[in-house]
Amino acid sequence: MEVKILSEHYHKDDFQGLTGYKANGGYEMLKKAFTMKPQEIIDLVKAAGLRGRGGAGFPTGVKWGFLPDNGEPRYLLCNADEGEPGTFKDREMMERAPHQLVEGMIISAFAIGSKKSYIYIRGEYDDSINSCRQAIKEAYDAGLLGKNIMGSGFDHDMDVYCGAGAYICGEETGMISSLEGKKGQPKLKPPFPAVQGYLGKPTIVNNVETLASVIYILRDGVDAYRKYGTEKSPGTKLFSVSGNVVKPGNYEVPLGYPLKDLIFDLCGGLKPGRKLKAVIPGGSSAPILTAEEAMVATLDYENLAQHGSMLGSGAVMVIDDSNCMVDLLGVTLHFYHHESCGQCTPCREGTGWLDKIVHSILDGKGRLQDIDLMDEVAGHMMGRTICALSDAAAMPTLSFLKKFRDEFEFYVREGRSKVKGQAHAQM
Ligand SMILES: Cc1cc2nc3c(=O)[nH]c(=O)nc-3n(C[C@H](O)[C@H](O)[C@H](O)COP(=O)(O)O)c2cc1C
Ligand code: SF4
Repeated sequence: MEVKILSEHYHKDDFQGLTGYKANGGYEMLKKAFTMKPQEIIDLVKAAGLRGRGGAGFPTGVKWGFLPDNGEPRYLLCNADEGEPGTFKDREMMERAPHQLVEGMIISAFAIGSKKSYIYIRGEYDDSINSCRQAIKEAYDAGLLGKNIMGSGFDHDMDVYCGAGAYICGEETGMISSLEGKKGQPKLKPPFPAVQGYLGKPTIVNNVETLASVIYILRDGVDAYRKYGTEKSPGTKLFSVSGNVVKPGNYEVPLGYPLKDLIFDLCGGLKPGRKLKAVIPGGSSAPILTAEEAMVATLDYENLAQHGSMLGSGAVMVIDDSNCMVDLLGVTLHFYHHESCGQCTPCREGTGWLDKIVHSILDGKGRLQDIDLMDEVAGHMMGRTICALSDAAAMPTLSFLKKFRDEFEFYVREGRSKVKGQAHAQM
């Protein structure tokens, strides 16, 4: 069953505007936040066990606790770049409930003592950019942003910054460089942004969904938040389901929810006559699961790690037996090659070679040893670079080759797809 907390009011047409948002309890938690000490809010978020929804699942309260107490200005950056292929949950929230994000950000900014925040939105998201700008304007007009918010003595300014459609600007240090007006290239960590981020000052970067979740932790309390999810992965999460299901879309379910139920109950299963072949559970960077693994996996950080994959951004891509895995890896690797920022040799050269080799197989020019070569190249790309894009290209490669090797071998031997060949034979 879906549990709609973040998405409870998405269906209401007037929820996008301030009046409709307030009529449904909007900004009540900001009022509550101002009756609390900032540290109390941080402690609450820590106790609730909220984990970042941008991909890595790092505990939010713990990250906020890394800010140095050095009197320097602090920045809050909302990561709304949403570049991970298959992910579209942040866009829906920004379009349907922009004030939910703005309120979550003001509460979070108050908790961490930040007077300035930015929402970094990918450039293609025109509707999200417009709705967030409109919500920020309404909030200023109503005294919910600017000086002395709600008479609390707390000042906060917020702005939208538009990206230009580069996947790498979703990586937090790449995003900071882009926001500073530089080339959107990641930087080595440490120092982490919490210590030295935007303009060299302490900066917290959190995903859209993470920041909005803070409202409901304040509203419902730790026990109610932890009622959903598992011990180590508490709460609900938005999953973007795409691919070969009858009803693709965003679904909010408790963490720990069976992947099988998401696909076959909530999303209406597969098209008639098709069989489940594989599932990518957390965006294109996540190692692929076979149908057998997908039928027993649950949607939480620990269980997917046990299956050798990851929850990532919560983008579930469902693949039925009409798909060719060589084709699919070809599209994926072309994307990573195109998006590599080129600073690190293993990533710049590795993504290029993988793209080239898989496309030579797709062109019917592959050799059997190319499959091992891809495996070797991908192996050298893991854990050796400034950011995780290199790993993000290597992980799907290694998992596709391990789990669907027969399709790669068939393609090399026959010069055509095993799957498409079968489809022709049936016709
Ligand atoms: C290549 C790459 C792309 C990323 N893209 C996004 C993105 O589009 N949105 C996002 O929230 N996090 C993205 N991340 C993760 C961010 O670096 C960062 O961990 C996240 O914004 C932190 O927020 P959270 O703690 O709320 O998850 C990306 C990471 C990498 C390595
Ligand atoms: S790993 Fe790739 S994308 Fe990341 S900094 Fe290095 S070259 Fe750029």
